[in-house]
Amino acid sequence: MENRLILAPMGGMLRPSVRLTYRRLGAAMTCIGVIDARAVARAESDELINILGRREVTYEEERPVSVQLIGANVDEVAAAANRIQRFASVIDLNCSGPLQRLIDQGYGAADLLRDPAFIKEMVHAVVERTRLPITVKIRIGMEGPDVDVVGIAQNCQEAGAAAIAVHARFVRQMYFGPAHWEWIKTVKENVDIPVVGNGAVHSAFDAQAMLERTGCDFVMIGTGAFINPLIFLQTNELLETGHCPTISNTRTLLRFFREYFASARRMESRGLVRFLRSSCKNFLKVRSFMQGIQSGRVTLK
Ligand SMILES: Cc1cc2nc3c(=O)[nH]c(=O)nc-3n(C[C@H](O)[C@H](O)[C@H](O)COP(=O)(O)O)c2cc1C
Repeated sequence: MENRLILAPMGGMLRPSVRLTYRRLGAAMTCIGVIDARAVARAESDELINILGRREVTYEEERPVSVQLIGANVDEVAAAANRIQRFASVIDLNCSGPLQRLIDQGYGAADLLRDPAFIKEMVHAVVERTRLPITVKIRIGMEGPDVDVVGIAQNCQEAGAAAIAVHARFVRQMYFGPAHWEWIKTVKENVDIPVVGNGAVHSAFDAQAMLERTGCDFVMIGTGAFINPLIFLQTNELLETGHCPTISNTRTLLRFFREYFASARRMESRGLVRFLRSSCKNFLKVRSFMQGIQSGRVTLK
């Protein structure tokens, strides 16, 4: 890892050229969001690319990249991890999903976080079947601090996880509102593996504060990366020099798009002109969607 900053997994939002752009703009790693382990485990091997989908295909030049699996059957998750490991640098196990469609399948955060023994078994099985570092992404509770966060983190460590990512919100909060960073600190104090802090980092100063207040090893940034796409560059500069340049919104977006076009030229199969025509508009649309999520105006189902 080049630095301590990670772009959070955001299912469906991060096509390869966007991920590469964030890597070039200072994220040490990007993540691909929830992939259904059952679909991967049951696929014909030559269909794997189809299962991962165009957005999820990974490229050498964007590495390190983490690929996230979700599932509620240990054998399926382990088999899926084994099959997709060539696409990934790290495999992340999602135990933090608040969405109804995940709950309906039995692998929402509520199902998984309430069963620390199952998480341990799943991590162990995946570690056994892969040669990659395995990480786990958790939340800090359902309605409040109602799950054994420390026990889960320790179970992950005992089962061989390489790191644990803590999204410091309760499931009921979805993706907005205050993040309870004290839980990141608590986890950090109770495990030896690296801890990734996540939740409500909206500026370089927030990232610095999270590192200082919680002692976490890495900071994971989600919605904030769309609202300020230079957040990784700015945070790295702040951590290295103690200064953070102020950049206007317009200059921020221009810088992002310059990098984005360079990444797109390398990665997008569609004609570049067609891509350019739609990409700025799409990015700005996703950006305002993320502003809606951060403010609670937009809710994911
Ligand atoms: C649109 C959207 C999609 C997301 N998809 C995933 C996902 O696939 N897997 C996951 O673990 N978290 C997912 N998340 C949660 C983020 O990874 C992150 O934990 C959350 O946004 C909190 O970080 P933030 O406060 O910096 O935005 C998603 C969040 C959003 C807004």
